[in-house]
Amino acid sequence: MTLELDAVISGGTAVTSGGVARTDIGILDGRIAALAPRLSAKRTIDAHGLLVLPGGVDSHVHLDQPATGASAMSDDFDSGTASAAAGGTTTVICFAWQPRGGSLKATVEDYHRRAAKARVDYAFHLTVTDPTSTVLEDELPALVESGCRSVKVFMTYDGVGLDDIQLINTLAAARKAGALVCVHAEHHGPIKYLSERIVAAGLTAPKYHAWAKPPLVEREAIGRITAIAEMLDVPIQIFHVSCPETAAEVARARARGLKVWAETCPQYLSLTAEDLDRPGFEGAKFIFGPPARSASDCDGLWHYLRDGTLGVISSDHSPLSFDHPKGKKAAGDDASFDKVPNGIPGLAARLPITFHEGVVKGRIDLPTFVDLVATRPARLFGLAPTKGSIAVGADADLVLWDPDATQVLTQAGQHHGGDYTPYEGREVRGRVIATYLRGQPVFENGQIKGSPGSGRFLPRAPYPEIAPRGVFPIPFNPVDGTLVA
Ligand code: URP
Ligand code: ZN
Ligand code: ZN
Repeated sequence: MTLELDAVISGGTAVTSGGVARTDIGILDGRIAALAPRLSAKRTIDAHGLLVLPGGVDSHVHLDQPATGASAMSDDFDSGTASAAAGGTTTVICFAWQPRGGSLKATVEDYHRRAAKARVDYAFHLTVTDPTSTVLEDELPALVESGCRSVKVFMTYDGVGLDDIQLINTLAAARKAGALVCVHAEHHGPIKYLSERIVAAGLTAPKYHAWAKPPLVEREAIGRITAIAEMLDVPIQIFHVSCPETAAEVARARARGLKVWAETCPQYLSLTAEDLDRPGFEGAKFIFGPPARSASDCDGLWHYLRDGTLGVISSDHSPLSFDHPKGKKAAGDDASFDKVPNGIPGLAARLPITFHEGVVKGRIDLPTFVDLVATRPARLFGLAPTKGSIAVGADADLVLWDPDATQVLTQAGQHHGGDYTPYEGREVRGRVIATYLRGQPVFENGQIKGSPGSGRFLPRAPYPEIAPRGVFPIPFNPVDGTLVA
């Protein structure tokens, strides 16, 4: 007896990290049920002339984090995941962000409530800002067990960044609990010293943000955190690597055999420090950390994307409005660069920018594109094989992609909650025609479809990438306090 399929995507060219193939895709009960030519079903979706991609997996997305200081995010889970759908992303991993002095457990409970209106599927990273013994010994293990299998730590920012002992304790706790540690790697002391001296010299415009965070602060922090990871034998993912100089530090750690992975983001492939120098306060639209570097740095990152040093392209969507009292102007419309909240929106632009800069410009092929934006983040964060690929049994998270259509990126086209996009007016080739989440349209014909709440929480079970190697630099396991034979 042959099963009657709910839908078939007909006549398209499916792209996976393994290759490109003409095939129909049969969907049943929200999953891919068949990959074969000439399938029939109750509903046919015509994909002739189009590529069919696995739904994007964005492993670095800030949505509806409670306000810090005077600023507030411009996206909640409704608007943020609408933007994800418009950009061909069907899974986001967001940050349950412990406030200092607060409970991590309560943070996660609150974040589950906030995420109930998500339109695409989601998982949580645990952002640890206050690693007390209660947090590390009681709360974190239980939360990891409940499916939040990644921990986020900062090495900079007042009130958020951890010192070396706190970093060591948190990484050790993550190793014990079985979680991947994600790191914002920038060296806090030099940033603070430079910022104060630069501002004291009267250099306050947005462009001086890049002076206060030169590559050396990132290089030092990556070197330090990879040494800590080596000492503890704990797998880590370095977030938002901004330039070849710092990617090289990741490559050195990987050459030592460590389980160190890293990502970069579209902003480091397409924006530069010159954007920070736009007239008036416009440069504040481009303040994020680490900062954008030079055009040759953008170009140089592709070498590390091709050789696997950088395995993921995430958005680091950290949405703030520009012309808003809780956005970029929270400290005034002529605030010095160090008072401007960091972060830019980028969820919907992630696939278009990556495709244009990567595939259209001949720097990577189609399978590598899919690998970077969907397959590898799914695998690295324990969401494979359900997410990130086109295979029988996987969720029918699929994107119809026109590789030949040219589009101009605009604020309106981002479908997000903020009032600007840093990519306004940028012409790119390649665009999303439709996005399907578990077989249902969430974006079609330029419109957001479905309703808030159609996304599901994705608990993550233990998976191979987070298993420690069992190798220490001395014959002693400092986490367990045992001798190593
Ligand atoms: O500037 C940035 N990247 N803001 C978002 C928070 C972070 O550092 O990831
Ligand atoms: Zn960061
Ligand atoms: Zn971030």
